[in-house]
This record gives sequence, C-alpha cells and structure tokens, in this order.
Amino acid sequence: MARSILISGIQPSGRLHIGNYLGALKNFVELQNSGKYECYFFIADYHSLTGDFDERKQSEQTIDLAASFMAAGLDAKKSTLFIQSEVPRTIELSLILSSLITAMGDLERMVEYKEKVADGQTPNAGLFNYPVLMAADILIYKAGVVPVGEDQRQHLELTRAIARNFNARFGETFPEPKAAHTSAPRVMSLDDASRKMSKSIASGCIYLTDTPDEIRAKVARAQTDSMSEVGYDPEKRPAIANLLRIYSEFSGKPIETIVAEFKGKKYVEFKTALAEVIIAALIPFQEKRAELLKNPKKLASILASGAKKASKIAEATMKEVREKTGLI
Ligand code: ADP
Ligand code: TRP
Repeated sequence: MARSILISGIQPSGRLHIGNYLGALKNFVELQNSGKYECYFFIADYHSLTGDFDERKQSEQTIDLAASFMAAGLDAKKSTLFIQSEVPRTIELSLILSSLITAMGDLERMVEYKEKVADGQTPNAGLFNYPVLMAADILIYKAGVVPVGEDQRQHLELTRAIARNFNARFGETFPEPKAAHTSAPRVMSLDDASRKMSKSIASGCIYLTDTPDEIRAKVARAQTDSMSEVGYDPEKRPAIANLLRIYSEFSGKPIETIVAEFKGKKYVEFKTALAEVIIAALIPFQEKRAELLKNPKKLASILASGAKKASKIAEATMKEVREKTGLI
C-alpha cells in the first residue's frame, strides 16, 4: 500500500527557538525516520510576506532555515525539501479555495489572526488569507498527516473543513488531514509561562543558535515560583512545569525521574543542570548547521530538486481541480 503523505512547513522569519524545535522540527525528523510516511517539508516563504517582512534578509533566512532543517536531521534522501514559492501552483489552489469554499466569517474566527492584530500588527489582506494558503499547501499534496505545534490546531481544523466542503461540492478529491502533535506541543516563554515561546518575545526564547553563555544566562533568569524545590504541577506551577518539560525533552528522561533527582535541591542547581542539558543537545545541531552554511549553493540545489518533485504532484492535483471546477 502507498505510504500516506506527510507535509509541514516553517516560515523563514527569524531564528528558530527551542519551541519550534520541540514542538515541530524534532517531530519532523522522527516521523521522517519512522519510514511510515512519504514526507514533504518546506520553507514557507510566501507566508512570511504576511508578517514582519524584510526583503534584504529574506533569501539569507531561507537558506538558513534549510540548513537548520538538515542540521536537525531532515535528509533530502528520505524527504522532499523545498521552498514554497518554487511551487507557485499552490497560489492557484489557494485562490480557488478562498473564492469557492471559504467564507470571510471562517477567517474572522482565526485566533492567530486576532492575536496578531491585538498585539499591534497592522493586518494586510495576506495575513487574513493566510489560513487558506496553508490549506492549499497541505491539500495540493493530498497530505494525510501534518506535524505542527498546538498553535496551528485551528488552522488544521479549517483545512479539514475546506477539504470536506470541496469534496461535498465537487466530488471526493482531498483527504482530510490530521494534525500530529509532539509530547511538547506548546513550549512556554521563559519570561512568562502564560504565553507560548515565540520569536516576538525574544527575551523569553532560547534560540537554537544561542551560545552556551547566552543559554546559561537565559535559564538563570527564567521565571520560577516561590516554592523551594521542583515539582510537576502544570496548573499551579506552570513556570517550573515548563522547565521540567524542556529538561525531559532534551535529556530523554521522564519528568518523575528529574523531579526525584532534584528533590531537596535548590532551583539554582536545577537551572544549572537544565542549561547544560540544553547546551549539550544543541552543540551537534550548531556544528552541523555551520558546516552546511559553508556551501549555500548545495543547499539551494537540494531545494531546487525538491521543488521539481513537489511541482509534479501539484500539477497533477491542479489538473484535477481545474477539471472538477470547470476551469479550462
Ligand atoms: P513562531 O510562533 O515563533 O513565529 P512559527 O509560527 O514559525 O513560530 O512556527 C513554526 C513551527 O513551530 C509550527 O509548527 C509551530 O506550531 C511550532 N511552534 C511555534 N512556537 C511553538 C512553541 N512555543 N511550542 C511548540 N511549538 C511551537
Ligand atoms: N502556519 C505555519 C506556522 O506558522 C506554517 C505553515 C504554512 C504550515 N503552511 C503550512 C505548516 C502547511 C504545516 C503545513 O508555523
């Protein structure tokens, strides 16, 4: 039986942080290596047009993200890696889905859009339409599985509804894709455990490219609580629970083991150990990334062959969609 198709993308809009890694990228690599899926991973450069866009940095950030993908373990021999804008058929599908299937009201309900506007971003029309483009990214490959962090859950639900409504009107065309979340689907900010770690609050982020000293300083400053030793209680002690989850994800140790290890010890000891666990996990990533960035032409050529392969599928889907919708 053919393997089911898996797809995900990340925007090239700044440095990746450990939330991106633990919530998305680490999962991409594990799913790729499971051999169960035919995997596609892309750099969502069209999506980055909708945010804080800087044309001088765009191409560098795209190559940089490709290096991070591969340094984390994505492998062009096992997965198709490409740049979203090198498969422009996606835009055609997005236009068709936004006109024939998606209501303004569906997009007005999107929490991520509302949050960005509430945070002071002046919305462009692209930002409003973002979730339809995301649906097109997924549906054009007829993907069944989409690994993303928990913040993308609502966009995935909308994608499923779009697939369903298209199928109901034009006949069975798209599978309804399922989200695949990790065991750390929402890493919280080190500054404020009530907000997710996000590039928009730089001080609460540990970037995958931070130096050991930067990591030590950020962990030392991280929010804790007024208790005296670590304990896992996500409801009452969200800041410590977040640090324990990060420790567990990077060390591979269960949370209970870590709590037992630090019983009776001060927060400073826990934090010192946590910083070292993160540093040790990131060093091989950082070395590999630096090595890959020495040869940006090679990265560009890997992405170009990925786009060729992705385009073939996109062409076939669009032929079917054009026929079904009566476009010539
Ligand atoms: P950001 O929110 O920092 O701008 P992106 O929107 O580029 O990050 O997200 C890229 C991927 O990382 C997505 O799959 C998203 O769900 C995931 N992700 C982002 N922030 C977090 C977080 N704090 N915890 C877990 N996953 C996250
Ligand atoms: N919206 C996703 C994010 O902010 C990025 C993205 C764009 C994506 N298109 C996608 C993720 C398709 C999965 C599938 O992280």
